[in-house]
This record gives sequence, C-alpha cells and structure tokens, in this order.
Amino acid sequence: MGSTNPFKEQSSSLTKKILPFTLYALLPIALIRLYFYPIPLSFSSTNQIPQNTPILINTTSPSSSSKGDVDNIGCDYSNGKWVTDKLGPLYNGTSCGTIKDGQNCMGHGRPDLDYLFWRWKPHECELPRFEPKTFFQILRNKHVAFVGDSMARNQLESLMCMLSTFSSPDLVYSNGDDHKFRKWHFPSHNVNVSIYWSPFLVKGIEKPSGANYNKLFLDSVDERWASDLDQMDVIVLSIGHWYLHSAVYFYGGSVLGCHYCSDQNYTEIGFYDVFGKAFKTTLNAIMERRGGSKGEGIGVIVTTFSPHHFEGEWDKLGACPKTQPYTEGEKKVEGMDAEMRKAELEEIEAIKRRDKKLGTLRLEALDVTKLALMRPDGHPGPYLYANPFANGVQERVQNDCVHWCLPGPIDTWNEILLDVLKRWEGQSRKGK
Ligand SMILES: *[C@@H]1O[C@H](CO)[C@@H](O)[C@H](O)[C@H]1NC(C)=O
Ligand SMILES: *[C@@H]1O[C@H](CO)[C@@H](O)[C@H](O)[C@H]1NC(C)=O
Ligand SMILES: *[C@@H]1O[C@H](CO)[C@@H](O)[C@H](O)[C@H]1NC(C)=O
Ligand SMILES: *[C@@H]1O[C@H](CO)[C@@H](O)[C@H](O)[C@H]1NC(C)=O
Repeated sequence: MGSTNPFKEQSSSLTKKILPFTLYALLPIALIRLYFYPIPLSFSSTNQIPQNTPILINTTSPSSSSKGDVDNIGCDYSNGKWVTDKLGPLYNGTSCGTIKDGQNCMGHGRPDLDYLFWRWKPHECELPRFEPKTFFQILRNKHVAFVGDSMARNQLESLMCMLSTFSSPDLVYSNGDDHKFRKWHFPSHNVNVSIYWSPFLVKGIEKPSGANYNKLFLDSVDERWASDLDQMDVIVLSIGHWYLHSAVYFYGGSVLGCHYCSDQNYTEIGFYDVFGKAFKTTLNAIMERRGGSKGEGIGVIVTTFSPHHFEGEWDKLGACPKTQPYTEGEKKVEGMDAEMRKAELEEIEAIKRRDKKLGTLRLEALDVTKLALMRPDGHPGPYLYANPFANGVQERVQNDCVHWCLPGPIDTWNEILLDVLKRWEGQSRKGK
C-alpha cells in the first residue's frame, strides 16, 4: 500500500527556491491556456495482458559492467549537437491522423520547413534513425504506456505516427475529456501503445481556472495509471510543466506548503523539492509493485524536463520566432530547466543506489533536456491554430512555445527510446 517513505531531508535554502519564480511568473498564465483540463476519469482495466516471455529480465543496474555491452552503454546521448540532415522526417504531418491539432504545424500552414531537417548527433556515438520494424520486433506481445501530461502525449503521438508508417493500429480504448486515456493495438505484432493522463503522477486535483489551486497529495501515487501497472511492460513517464501552477501540497494528511499562492495562509515552498518528492513517491510505487522479482519485467523510462522557449509574452507576435536550432555552446541548461532535470535524475539515482535489487525492473532517464533546449525552432508558435495569419498579421496572437511540432524534434526522443529498448533487449539475451 502506498508509499511509506518519510521525507528525511529538510529543504535547504528557501531563497534559492523562491527567486526563480518571479522570472516564471507569467509562464503559468500561458500554460493554463495551452493545456487542457481534464475531469478525472478512471481508465477501466478490462484488458488482461497475456503473460508472455519477458524481454526485460534480470539486471541489477542498467549500467552494470557486464562485458560486451560497451556498444551503446558508453554513449551519453544527452551530449551532442544538432546537425543538418537531408533525409527529413519519417512521416508527414498531413498524413498522420494521430496528431493533436495544436501540434500539426504543417497542417496549420507553418511555411518554413527547415526545422524538419536536423538530426541529433551525440558526441560519442551515432543515434540510428527510428526503425518501426525493430520497435515492433522488440515489443512483440508487449504493452508500452506513456504516462504524464501533454508532453507525454506529444511524445506518444510522435511514436504513433512513426509506427503507423509500418503497421496500422486500431484504437481499442478511448476515454476522458479530450481523449486523455487511449490505447491502440497493432495486430501485426500484438503490440499495444497507450496514454494515461496524469500531469503530476501523484494524486492530484486539477483546479486550474480562476483563483483555484491544484491540490497535490505528494505521498500517494495517482491510481488512474498505477492501478494498471501490472499490465505494462514498458512505461514512459513525462511530466513537469504542471508543477509551475498554483498548488497546495499535502503530505501525510497535512499541508506541507503551497506555491504561487499569496492569498493563501500557507508557506510558499516552491516546486522543485515538491517535484522531487512526487517523483520519489512515483518510483517507489513502481518499485513496490513491479520491482524485485515480482512477475514479468518492466522497463521504466523517465523523459526529463523539456524546456519552453517563450521570449516575452505568450500572446504577442514572435513569442518563439526562431527557425534554426541554437548552435553548440550558445545555450546551456540552467535555472528551472536544470532544477527540474536534476530533481528527476536524483530520484532515479537514489532508487538505484538504495535498491540494489531492481530485479526484473529496469529504470533509465531519457535525458532530453539539453537536446530540447537547443531547438527553439521546433514549436508550433502561432501555428497552434490553423492559418493564424489568414486575415493579416496581428500584434496579438496566441503561441505555443512548449509543445513540439509533429513531425519535429520530439521524434528524436523516440529514436533514443528505441535505442534504450534495443540495449535492454541485448542485455536480456546475454543474461539468459
Ligand atoms: C539473475 O542474475 C543473477 C546474477 O547475475 C543470477 O545468479 C540469476 O540466476 C539470474 N536470474 C535469472 C532468473 O536469470
Ligand atoms: C504530405 O502528404 C500529402 C498527401 O500525401 C502531400 O500532398 C504533401 O505534399 C506531403 N507533404 C510533404 C511535406 O511531404
Ligand atoms: C492489447 O490490447 C488488446 C485489446 O485491449 C488485448 O486484447 C491484448 O491482450 C493486449 N495485448 C497486449 C500485448 O497487451
Ligand atoms: C494564518 O496562520 C497563522 C499561523 O498559523 C494564524 O495565526 C493566522 O490567524 C492565520 N491567518 C488567517 C487569515 O487565517
């Protein structure tokens, strides 16, 4: 039952945490408009996954130094640069039916296409182009679940578009306001891909409009996805931006503090520590239910925080006007982006250190923060809506500088995802 980990560490310097918020004070307003708000609905777990041979078996730590794994393990994907690439994307924004409207930049008339012709080149290795066939072979008879906020959905939709170039999926489940809970089945390989809406991963009550506050219960995992953990073979977690919103934080039945809540009689505690605590609760819940030698293996992948690129006001012309990536060294991961990424990486490392016996569970960060930061050109901007300048160029136009165009840079996240899965598969073979 639930997490029982008491919070031992006291928050260090409050000033350090509060300072950055003034910088981001305007951002939540933009985010509130960009994200949609769900009525919590449960994802009924009617489908039983057949118990098949696990691909993810028996490792103590993903980077354990067993011989022969050197090929990709030594490669740090998070360090590299974007280089031009004539090949372009695997799919076409006007032909993939799974893209959410606001991210369909091609379909919405974004005129420049240069942003599609870049490829991520890690310094120490090559990142292979996405191969749908390989994905299906590795995940035959498996279920891959994406869990998180609209960035999770963005990554899922990229994956769906790439997979659909090889095999057609059937939508077998759809529920929730704006289809926040969906599942597709690829009959060709009996592969399921699903998305679960859970912007905090822990239990939360979303009340974003007006003077309301989100309520977060940092010690309880969100059962809307966690109750299906026993049916998942790979789980991709992606959250972050919702932690910027006003919220009151609960822990152990009492209020820990709040964020962005001057009219409340609670202490402002920021959201970095809170974010780390929520992550700890999440990983602990996964460990408790699927760690050790419990049942079949599960692979857990944490997509790290993806920075936004708002320059000034979100509803002003040119809020994210760049059409080229930043060049190497032009930008570094800092401020909120660095803090959010760090909170995630620290919790992952803490679990690995503490639980030497992850057993059949594998856990890895998909560290995209830097590669995302370098792509200010990859957002929908005004093409959030179709043909925004059909009636002439206005000074005020709403912009999305958070999510990614599809196709777009986020396709690379899935190239890395596939590479992680390939490596795990290789290790499993050797482990047998
Ligand atoms: C897991 O690995 C350990 C040590 O590497 C080995 O002793 C054990 O037999 C393995 N278990 C399975 C189920 O393969
Ligand atoms: C995308 O596909 C459509 C329909 O097949 C085609 O008309 C269009 O030219 C394609 N666009 C690109 C950029 O490939
Ligand atoms: C995929 O989903 C379908 C339909 O919900 C189900 O019948 C099947 O068992 C699932 N397969 C896997 C591998 O999860
Ligand atoms: C706020 O909290 C303090 C300390 O708990 C209490 O003394 C004060 O009356 C509260 N103020 C309001 C307006 O509730």
